[in-house]
Amino acid sequence: MRVSLLASPLRLGAREAKNRLYRAPVLEVAGNGPDAARILRRELEPSAASGCGLVFQGACLVTPEGGRSAPGLSRVHDRAFVLSLRPAVEAVKAHGALLLMQLGHGGLQTMELWHHAYRQEHPDLATLAVSEPPWWMKALSPLLDLSRVRVMTDDELRALAEAFGAAASHAAEAGYDGVHLAGANGSVFQQCWSPVFNKRTDAFGGPTLRDRSTFFRLVVEAIRRRTPRDFLLTTKVPAETEAPFFVRDALSLDEGAQIARIAQDAGVDAVAPVRVGVTRDQATARGAFPEIAWSDPRWQKGYDAAFGRARKHAVKAANRVAAKAIPFEPAWNAAFCRAVKREVSIPVLCEGGLREKAEMERLLGSGACDMVGMARPFYAEPRLAWRLLHEDEDARLLCESCNNCTIPQVTGAPGVCRTPEILAKRGEMMKRGAYGPRE
Ligand SMILES: Cc1cc2nc3c(=O)[nH]c(=O)nc-3n(C[C@H](O)[C@H](O)[C@H](O)COP(=O)(O)O)c2cc1C
Ligand code: SF4
Repeated sequence: MRVSLLASPLRLGAREAKNRLYRAPVLEVAGNGPDAARILRRELEPSAASGCGLVFQGACLVTPEGGRSAPGLSRVHDRAFVLSLRPAVEAVKAHGALLLMQLGHGGLQTMELWHHAYRQEHPDLATLAVSEPPWWMKALSPLLDLSRVRVMTDDELRALAEAFGAAASHAAEAGYDGVHLAGANGSVFQQCWSPVFNKRTDAFGGPTLRDRSTFFRLVVEAIRRRTPRDFLLTTKVPAETEAPFFVRDALSLDEGAQIARIAQDAGVDAVAPVRVGVTRDQATARGAFPEIAWSDPRWQKGYDAAFGRARKHAVKAANRVAAKAIPFEPAWNAAFCRAVKREVSIPVLCEGGLREKAEMERLLGSGACDMVGMARPFYAEPRLAWRLLHEDEDARLLCESCNNCTIPQVTGAPGVCRTPEILAKRGEMMKRGAYGPRE
């Protein structure tokens, strides 16, 4: 019998993951209410209980206001709130998984820019940018409201870096094994690295990637200063290969690999390279145009609130175009991971379109990466780890990347699979005991 690399342990910084399978960060929509710990436990524990070696909690915001890229994200600037998540943390870790909280800030790309109702509810909230928005964003006005954009001062960027450190210290105290920086998907980190968004001439900008890494280095320093020595620190790393043709200077694959090197030099324990665009778009989660999700009457009120009645149709059309322009590819980040592996000696985490066990074993075996992760498939099968670890090499996950789960989330809807055929298949598999013993 062939040895499964997926099931073999991996050294991650000062810790060890019991296998090479991880749950990539996706929205849990846990918010900051009294139910946050219960929701997080419900969303995260099945992945750990079914065998995942590493679990990433989806993006959490490090500031008390602003920076929010989607509804339902938790804010983790408040120590008492983070400590209240302990029951969820303990439940996940009791299964032997490592648990990392993802920390983020949307910078320019936040709800103040695109969410109609949120803008009206927060009339005084500024949108904090690294530099003046590029011309093509200005051309998209009034689809995007740039009237409240303010370029961050040197002091504000330094304070934001410290906020990452403070949030990480709360996470350490609550029992998390580490934090994962939201380094891609249009975040403030990507905006600092990208020449498209960073035109600064002060300490945070400049012609080279190293010049534009000052913010990232300050964040890493703040986290290392405020957390124990064995606390894990990982990050996503972007390459803006899916930028539209009219966007000049987008980060290439090679520049993405250099960023991974910079992250390693700064003291990061592992990197997850992802090919993205320059806005929060289909490139992050490639898949089909989600017709069912767009036409479902249950979400129309929420779409009206999110996009505005008239603009909703423009957003839907743009989503249709993006789904065609950036099609699904199995393991679409594998080549980027290989390029990063040539640059760094720390573990490289591969995610994006991984659906077949044989392919995961191949990627691990060929040295393309050190761990493999999935995001949407966990919505479709919260206990998929059991199948991957116990079934033969021909095991295939149910998720069809149709994206019916993603669009309703702009309304604050929970992250669940919304495709009836997939849910029916999951039900059959559950009856057959495919997900292991139920706790
Ligand atoms: C609904 C949804 C929410 C996501 N939220 C995050 C997030 O909070 N942070 C992040 O780094 N990536 C996020 N992602 C990207 C995923 O981590 C992952 O890279 C992407 O979905 C591709 O993997 P998949 O094909 O297995 O879904 C999200 C993706 C989806 C679909
Ligand atoms: S709706 Fe279900 S099948 Fe479609 S992408 Fe989401 S999880 Fe996968």
